Order: sequence, then structure tokens, then C-alpha cells
Amino acid sequence: MSREDERLKAALKRYKEAKLHYNELAEKHKVLARQVMLGEYYSVSGLRIDMPFVPSTANKVETMMELIGTLRGKKAADLGCGDGKIVFEMAKRGATVDGYELEPRLAGQARGRLSEASLSARVIEQNFFTADLSKYDVITIYGITSVMKRLEIKLRQEMKLGSVLVSNTFTLPNWRPERTKNDVYLYRKVENTEEV
Ligand SMILES: C[S@@+](CC[C@H](N)C(=O)[O-])C[C@H]1O[C@@H](n2cnc3c(N)ncnc32)[C@H](O)[C@@H]1O
Repeated sequence: MSREDERLKAALKRYKEAKLHYNELAEKHKVLARQVMLGEYYSVSGLRIDMPFVPSTANKVETMMELIGTLRGKKAADLGCGDGKIVFEMAKRGATVDGYELEPRLAGQARGRLSEASLSARVIEQNFFTADLSKYDVITIYGITSVMKRLEIKLRQEMKLGSVLVSNTFTLPNWRPERTKNDVYLYRKVENTEEV
């Protein structure tokens, strides 16, 4: 085969792979769009979940960490930790972290990410709506509107005074954020938490 033929063959292979990747992505987006329309979400293992897996972007993670500030010595939780990006960042900064994740495959990926970096944090396969959130100084979430509604009620009852919730993109419906940057919201539990 001539050099030109080899180059053409390689280009065709790359094109086929790219198209395959595109089709897979398009299929994933279709599945997600269907779930959004129905307001019912399922994980890759077919488990009913409250919000789909969409990882926070590096840019949002950076803002979340900036708004949280010092993590050393704090107890933190990521609600719906996915593949563990946020858990990893908070553990790296010295927090004792619990990540709650219903999908076992994602929980496994999160544990893998932590162990590769020799970081210790717990990844708990549990619905965070059934978890006791009163022990955390810092709680993070990348949720959806319906989850934020239910979470606000739980946090008003459970969150300890002085602790914070940092939310990527989605807001609590009736709670005024203390700080906002780059579509990330920091809420602090105070004696008489201000209503919006
Ligand atoms: C939008 S992703 C966020 C992932 C990660 N926190 C991040 O910011 O990169 C939401 C995750 O929450 C998980 N999840 C959905 N409902 C849950 C629930 N009730 N309890 C625990 N995990 C849940 C999903 O499987 C998914 O991985």
C-alpha cells in the first residue's frame, strides 16, 4: 500500500471512530432529553434517581472551591457525587468527605479516582434524602429544580447553624444566597435564615 493509501486509510478510520463517538453522544442526549421531558431519571444501571449524571465543569468546580474557602478540618458532603470530582477536590483540600451516590458504577469510579491519588473519603451508596445532613459543615450539590425544592425543606430542618450549602447552577427556591459567583450559590444556615 502506498503512503498516500495508508494516510487515507488512517483518516477514514479516524472519521469512522469520530462518527461512532458522535452517535453514542447523540443517543445519550436523546435518552436524557426523554427523561427530562418525563421528569423521571434513571441511572446507567436502570435505577430510579432524582437527577441525572452531568459532571460539574472544571470552571464551576474552581468557583465552588473558591466560595467554600478553607476546608481543612471540616466535615463535607457532596449530594449525588457522580464520578467523584467534587469529593476529590474537597478531600484534597483537607476535608473529611462523604459522597452520596445511588449508581454503583459511578460510586466505583469515584472510589477509583480517590484511591489513585491516595486520598481517603467515603463514597456511600445511599439516597442522600435519607441521610443525616446535620453533621456537615459544608454540603455541595449539582442538582435540578425539583431536587432543590425538596432539599431546601430538609436543610431548613436539619442543617446545623453556620454550615453552608454550595450549589452549582440551581438555586434554593426561598432562601437568599450569601454569595453568588459564576452561577454558583452559597447559602449559610443562620438563626433566622432570610427568605427571598
Ligand atoms: C448532576 S450529577 C453531579 C455529580 C457531581 N456532584 C458533580 O458535580 O460532578 C448528579 C448525581 O447524583 C446522583 N443521584 C441522583 N439522585 C440521587 C439521590 N437521591 N441520592 C444519591 N445520588 C443521587 C446521580 O446518579 C448523579 O451521579
